[in-house]
Amino acid sequence: MPRTSTSASSEAETFRAALGAWYRANGRHGLPWRLTRDPYAVLVSEVMLQQTQVERVIPHYEAWLARWPTFAALAGVLPAEVIRAWRGLGYNRRALNLHRLARDVVENHAGELPRAPVVLLGLPGVGSYTASAVRCFARAERVVVTDTNIARVIARSRLGVATRRDVSAESLGEAAGALLPATDVRDHNLALMDLGAVVCRARNPDCEACPLRGRCSWKTAGSPAARAPAGPAPKFETTARFARGRIIDALREAPADIDELAAILPGLHSERTGIYLAALEKDGLVSHDAAGTWALA
Ligand code: ADE
Repeated sequence: MPRTSTSASSEAETFRAALGAWYRANGRHGLPWRLTRDPYAVLVSEVMLQQTQVERVIPHYEAWLARWPTFAALAGVLPAEVIRAWRGLGYNRRALNLHRLARDVVENHAGELPRAPVVLLGLPGVGSYTASAVRCFARAERVVVTDTNIARVIARSRLGVATRRDVSAESLGEAAGALLPATDVRDHNLALMDLGAVVCRARNPDCEACPLRGRCSWKTAGSPAARAPAGPAPKFETTARFARGRIIDALREAPADIDELAAILPGLHSERTGIYLAALEKDGLVSHDAAGTWALA
């Protein structure tokens, strides 16, 4: 083997050893979805975690698994019931996609989550992150998992930049791939994820506590600021997502007509009730009868 490749691989080994020791002592090993390898349970957790924080997801995840422990159980209920159970998690379309996915798995894959990546990626609501997370966390496949935290740790420690937005997705994927161990990839990816969540935080990283501080390219370069600053996020209450969420919350309680729904929406949202309802109907979340009464799908 050429010299450079040997030293590169031993550097990666030292990096992984430091990361692994930190993870054994500090990792979030008790998270309920880490105590199972059931692809259904792992998928449910990953869909819930896509846009919702860990602490908020835990009780929802446990209740969901108790109520619908398999794809078949979930596939057997009506979409409205699933949307109701999603209350508190936000982004209701995820619930509907999960339900559609369960029906697809039962009808077309004998109740088992398919293994082939292209088939997985064709399932409702499954993007490249979710597919790789299920492959790695449920099936221990040797794949790169680039959730936000992992991407930030790789961007900083391996590529010397402050955020993932400062590098291309290809560079990130390559750097993460070069770091994958031959075995125990699940723990490796979870270790990167936890380091990003707990130490290598987006704002205010705790570099003093970092097991990689001596070998982090970003720290060595003097922790340069992000080159691609994030634009300010719009205030949540001004977004269509907020208004759509309010409509779904109301319809969880009882069917309603457009005027009743307009009355619960603040300010400019109120005038846009029809637009929001049309979008929710297009997504399959709500429907209306001939008298114009709206209800969950
Ligand atoms: N463990 C496995 N997947 C996770 C995720 N997406 N967030 C937090 N912990 C996890």
